[in-house]
Amino acid sequence: MAIFKSDILIIGTGLAGLATSLKLAPQRKVTLLAKESTVQTNTSWAQGGIAAVMAKSDSFESHIQDTLVAGAGLCNTAAVEDVVRQAPDRIQDLINWGAQLNREDLTREGGHSERRILHFEDHTGAHLQDALTKQVLNHTNIEIKENSFAIDLILNRQVDPRDTSAPKCIGVYVLNRESQEVDIYLANEIILATGGAGKVYRYTSNWSGATGDGVAMAYRAGARVSNLEFMQFHPTCLYHRESRNFLISEALRGEGGELIDGQGNAFMKKYHPLGSLAPRDIVARCIDAEMKKSGASSVFLDMTHLPKGFIESHFPAIHQKCMEFGIDMRLTPIPVVPAAHYLCGGVVTDLAGQTDIQHLWALGETACTGLHGANRLASNSLLECLAMAENCSQKILNSAVMQNKDYSPAEWIHPDQRDEDEMIVIHHMWDEIRTLMWNYVGIVRSNKRLHRAQHRLENVLQEVKDYYSNFRIHPDILELRNIALVASLTVECALQRKESRGIHYNLDYPFEQGLEENTVFLPPAKDTILIR
Ligand code: SIN
Repeated sequence: MAIFKSDILIIGTGLAGLATSLKLAPQRKVTLLAKESTVQTNTSWAQGGIAAVMAKSDSFESHIQDTLVAGAGLCNTAAVEDVVRQAPDRIQDLINWGAQLNREDLTREGGHSERRILHFEDHTGAHLQDALTKQVLNHTNIEIKENSFAIDLILNRQVDPRDTSAPKCIGVYVLNRESQEVDIYLANEIILATGGAGKVYRYTSNWSGATGDGVAMAYRAGARVSNLEFMQFHPTCLYHRESRNFLISEALRGEGGELIDGQGNAFMKKYHPLGSLAPRDIVARCIDAEMKKSGASSVFLDMTHLPKGFIESHFPAIHQKCMEFGIDMRLTPIPVVPAAHYLCGGVVTDLAGQTDIQHLWALGETACTGLHGANRLASNSLLECLAMAENCSQKILNSAVMQNKDYSPAEWIHPDQRDEDEMIVIHHMWDEIRTLMWNYVGIVRSNKRLHRAQHRLENVLQEVKDYYSNFRIHPDILELRNIALVASLTVECALQRKESRGIHYNLDYPFEQGLEENTVFLPPAKDTILIR
C-alpha cells in the first residue's frame, strides 16, 4: 500500500475536473485521478456544445428564462443566474486553454429560443477534453494518476473515533488497477468530479465508466443526495445491433431533422407544436409511445433534406460513425431510440460545489446545484462544469489552508478470496439492475413498476454487499456496488415524488401537483462507509 499526499485531490478528469485543476494549479499542488485513461470521461462523448449568450439578438434574460422553463419549477434561480451570466467569461477560459470555438457560428438545440450553442463541429466534448488534457499534462503542479479507481472517502472520524468534530473529508481509498493494491490518497481538499450515472440503465449515451461513483461515495460518507429521479433520457441514440451508446446529437434536429416512423410519417407535430425540436423529455416520451404502439424497435431521424455537403462539414463524426454501420444519413433516415443521458440530480452542493461534508466538493454532473431543476436545458452541462470550476477554485483559494494530509488512516484490509467463477454472477447482477431500471424506472413510470424495482433492488443490494465484503475487490464489483446504490436511491426519489414533473413521468400522477421541492436523501444516521 502506498500513501500519496497533495494539496488538492480531484477525482475525475472530465471538463469539471480538468478546468478546476487548471484554475487551482498556479497556487496549489493538484492530483487528478482517472478511473481508466484521462480521456475516458462523459465529456469526451459530448457532441452538441456549450450554451452561452453570444449573439446580439440574444440576452442573459432569455437564456435564464429558457433554463427555468426546462427546469419545470425546480431550478435554483441563483444558480441559473450565476451560471448563465458567467458563460462568456468561461468561454474565454476555454479559448485561453487552446479550444477552438467560433463565437459567430452558433447552433440551436431543443428548448433554446435563440441560436446560442458554441461547438467544435459535432464533437465539442472530445475537442475540449483534448485541449484541456494537453494543458494539464504540461503543468508542473498537476499530476495525473490513471487507472486509479476511487473506492470510498476517508473521514476524520474513521481515523480517530474520539474525534467528534464536524465530519470532514481527508482522503480516499483508491484501487490501483495495475498493481491491484488499494492505496491511500490524502489531501486538504477533495473534489468529486466523477460524471454521471447513465450505466445504471440498460441503454445509455454515456461512456462505460459512468456508474455514479461520486454520488455513491458521497452518500456512503454521509452527504445528502437529491433529485435522482430526474434522469434525462436523450431522444436519439443510434439504434444498431453493434452500437450500444452512440448519440445522434440534438443539433441535427436543430437543423430541421424530422422524426419519422417506419412508414415515413413525421409524428412529432401531433404531440407538440415545436415538432421534432420540442423539449427533450417530451420527444423521448413520444418516441417511447410510438414504439410501444407499433411494436417497432426504433423510430428514424430524417436528415435527407439538407443541401449537398452540409452533413460532411457540420456533422463529420456522426456521419462517419453512421457510415461505419452502413447508414448513409445523406440518403437514408437514421434509426434512433431514446437512452439515459444525463443525471440532473446528484450530491447536494452550494454554488461553489461545497457538500455537507467539510473539505468535500462535488462538481459537474456529480453535483446537484439546482441549475437543472427537473430537466436540463441542452448544452447547459458543459457550461455548468466551467462555472462551478471557477466558483469552487475561488472559494478554495480564498479559504485558510487545512493540513488534512497529516492524518494516518488505517490500511485497507481485504480478503484474499477471489473466485473467478463468481465473476459471472457479478455480470448477471449488473444486467439485472440495468434491465430492471430500464423497464420499471425508465421514461414512463408507475407506482407499481417503482415498487417492483424497489423490492428487486433490496435483494440485489444485499447480494452486492455480500460480494463486496467477502471477495477481493475488483473494478466490476466496485462499479456494481455503486450502480446498485444509485439505482436504489433513484427509486426512492421517484417514489417520493407524487406527481409528474420535468423528466419524471408517473402514470399514476400524470400532472404536476405543485410539489416544487427537491427530493432530498439524508444518509443513514451513522457513517455507512464500509472499510470492511
Ligand atoms: C446533444 O448533442 O444532443 C447533447 C447535448 C446535451 O445533452 O447537452
